[in-house]
Amino acid sequence: MIILSIESSCDETAAAVTLDGRTVLANEVFSQADLHALYGGVVPEIASREHIKAVDKLADAALRTAGIGKTDIDAIAVTYAPGLIGALLVGVSFAKSAALGLGVPLIPVHHMRGHIAANYIAFPELEPPFLCLVVSGGHSMIVGADSYTSFRIIGTTRDDAAGECFDKVARVLGLGYPGGPAIDKLAQSYTGNPVNFNLPIGRVDGREFDCSFSGLKTVIVNIAHNAVQKGEALDKAALTSAFSQAVSDALVPRTIEAAIRFGYDKIAVAGGVAANSRIRADLERACSEKMLALYRPPLKLCADNAAMIGCQGYYEFLAGTRAGSDLNGIASLSIERGYQHP
Ligand code: KG4
Ligand code: ZN
Repeated sequence: MIILSIESSCDETAAAVTLDGRTVLANEVFSQADLHALYGGVVPEIASREHIKAVDKLADAALRTAGIGKTDIDAIAVTYAPGLIGALLVGVSFAKSAALGLGVPLIPVHHMRGHIAANYIAFPELEPPFLCLVVSGGHSMIVGADSYTSFRIIGTTRDDAAGECFDKVARVLGLGYPGGPAIDKLAQSYTGNPVNFNLPIGRVDGREFDCSFSGLKTVIVNIAHNAVQKGEALDKAALTSAFSQAVSDALVPRTIEAAIRFGYDKIAVAGGVAANSRIRADLERACSEKMLALYRPPLKLCADNAAMIGCQGYYEFLAGTRAGSDLNGIASLSIERGYQHP
């Protein structure tokens, strides 16, 4: 089954062609990051306008790369939630007209389910159930993937997402946008002994698998502002190294503990922050100690792309999920909720 998939939930416009879910024939991504970097973060209105300019060209490019024509497409999959509503609507509108014009089914896909599905592309042998650490610009969750289309949230952030925290800290340290890759690079360059900046690991009373990043973010902002006010030099490499470790310490032990507690013997990672080298290394060490299998997709599949949407779309299709021309974008939607007709 050949699926043309569209992704436009944030600042990447993407189109892909997948065969039977896991085989990627084309995966075209246009990142708007440089445009948003001028403003230090994603400007929703600009994102929508850029998606409109790019979406049809990317779909054409995906078909060309895959070496197929429009009549070879069996279904259209599209990210319909969660994300920036104006941005989502561009992809949803394009997908609806494509499905209608071609007379093929339209499959609505939850963006975070798509991130998890990136693992199926990278690891052909992987099948649910497994536990997934899902960490992106908007979400930080420990999710049980119990089947291809049923998910349970075991832990989640009570405030900021891990990626949001990376982006904010990078902004305050003058490292640009998107902040995650810049912080990762600087932290990796630090070769000195770890410096104790007294960074907090957020805890939520009575919810041991939940996390919180707003306190950590505030402490870093204060450290940076204090240094400026006192005219002191700040060792940004040491600070980003300690910060990356604090984020990893908030996520990795909880993920391992959740796997043991809920009986999962496989752990996967998903989302943009899953590209972080500290988190990846700490997970590897912890999983090998506890004899848990670990799945870490390559960086390109961790970031937003449409192949992951096509892959999850295939499994949603097999489970009977279809949308009609009344499909709408939804800005906020739990990963646990399947698609419901309006
Ligand atoms: O999944 P994603 O591409 O988009 C969303 O669905 O949000 O995630 C983007 C987030 C950004 O916050 C970005 O700074 C972060 O992922 N990110 C990283 C790294 N690469 C991207 N954070 C930490 N380390 C990285 N290497
Ligand atoms: Zn994403």
